[in-house]
Amino acid sequence: MADMMWAGRFSKQVDETVNAFNSSIAFDGRMYRHDIQGSIAHAEMLGDCGIITKQDSLEIIGGLKDILADIDAGKLELDPNAEDIHMFVEAELTRRLGDVGKRLHTSRSRNDQVAVDLRLYLRDEIAEIKQLVIKLADTLINMAKDHTDTIMPGYTHLQRAQPITFAHHLMAYVWMLLRDLGRLDDACERMNVCPLGSGALAGTTYHTNRKQTSDALGFIEPMPNSLDGVSDRDYCVELCCALSLLMTHLSRFSEEIILWCSWEFKFVELDDAFATGSSIMPQKKNPDVTELIRGKTGRVNGDLVTLLTMMKGLPLAYNKDMQEDKEAVFDAVDNVKLCVKTFIPMLATMRVIKENMRNAAARGFINATDCADYLVKKGMPFRDAYKITGTLVAECIEKGLTLETLPIADYKAKTELFTDDVYDAISLDTCVRERKSQGGPSPDEVIRQIALAEDRLGAFRND
Ligand code: ARG
Repeated sequence: MADMMWAGRFSKQVDETVNAFNSSIAFDGRMYRHDIQGSIAHAEMLGDCGIITKQDSLEIIGGLKDILADIDAGKLELDPNAEDIHMFVEAELTRRLGDVGKRLHTSRSRNDQVAVDLRLYLRDEIAEIKQLVIKLADTLINMAKDHTDTIMPGYTHLQRAQPITFAHHLMAYVWMLLRDLGRLDDACERMNVCPLGSGALAGTTYHTNRKQTSDALGFIEPMPNSLDGVSDRDYCVELCCALSLLMTHLSRFSEEIILWCSWEFKFVELDDAFATGSSIMPQKKNPDVTELIRGKTGRVNGDLVTLLTMMKGLPLAYNKDMQEDKEAVFDAVDNVKLCVKTFIPMLATMRVIKENMRNAAARGFINATDCADYLVKKGMPFRDAYKITGTLVAECIEKGLTLETLPIADYKAKTELFTDDVYDAISLDTCVRERKSQGGPSPDEVIRQIALAEDRLGAFRND
């Protein structure tokens, strides 16, 4: 086995098991681009500040670019025995350039290196996730435009409650996604500061230029405190929190789709390409995609708890525990991307069975509030109107009727305020059309909110 970088201090080789246990290249290898990007900025700054010669700086930068090109092209494989991606790149550079390569790590530590790599890496991932969420919101808005007149029951306690439209329901998720986008932006903004130059924990005695590396890497500013720069992983926690909420939204929607696919609801039918069968029951068509999204939400929440728990007892500054940050945050990012990517075409191909939605809305007395409101509009106090309507519903249940089919005589027996126009006032179409309070389900109001959502989404698109 080759000597470790720190062999001078040690009288023995590291035990094989410790070596494998310690190594993170199997999972941090994915940050190779960002590691090299950070090293290039560092080498350039070292040259510009006269800490190494311009010539060495240029050679190092050239060597790093070659390594990047070779990894990209599959000509250079990451060495699984390397301790991590940072050690691998530096060792490869030194193998290629000899002594010049050994100058790269001047006035830098892996502690500030890993912190900068991870911020660069996650910044890119956030941009990708945002694009996916925007596409999902676009898909929902397009569906909503087709369904502003599609009446369905709205539920509370999973009991039919009041009439809404499918568009109104879909748009509720669009607003959640817009907030998710805002949270991703916030997380990105706070993450977008540069720890490079913090060194191991206490900065450096070299006259470095931290603003230069921060600017070169596209960060807002260098982090003002070197201890903080290498110690915190709040940016991973914050991102994971935003992702957990995004998954929670997808999971609730998934749960609804699972219900809607059942024969008990049959509001939607998934495309065959987005459902699966059973190995034994020939009739089955299962909504596996939505169930997996619901399941993976638990996993992403787990990633968040992993990060919070990993950090909560750590003294400043770097501790090796923090190497555990990457698998958790990468797992969250990977799974969110997978879920959103699969959810979009599944939704776009889902068949909406309008008649079943309407039939469900026509039963369950979801116009009872409107019947009470009818009396209120004729002058009765709401509580009295509520009580009378309750007795009418009980009467309907007893006679096997609905409020629409209950004879006018039965209405009038309760109060003479009821006249023939009650049937129009409680028709499903009227109930939806008249719910035009701001944010309500009336088609005009939903069309207005769709325009507003498109506007808000546009702002994220242009970021
Ligand atoms: N692989 C390490 C990590 O991911 C890099 C930083 C190591 N620093 C150290 N002093 N051991 O956290």
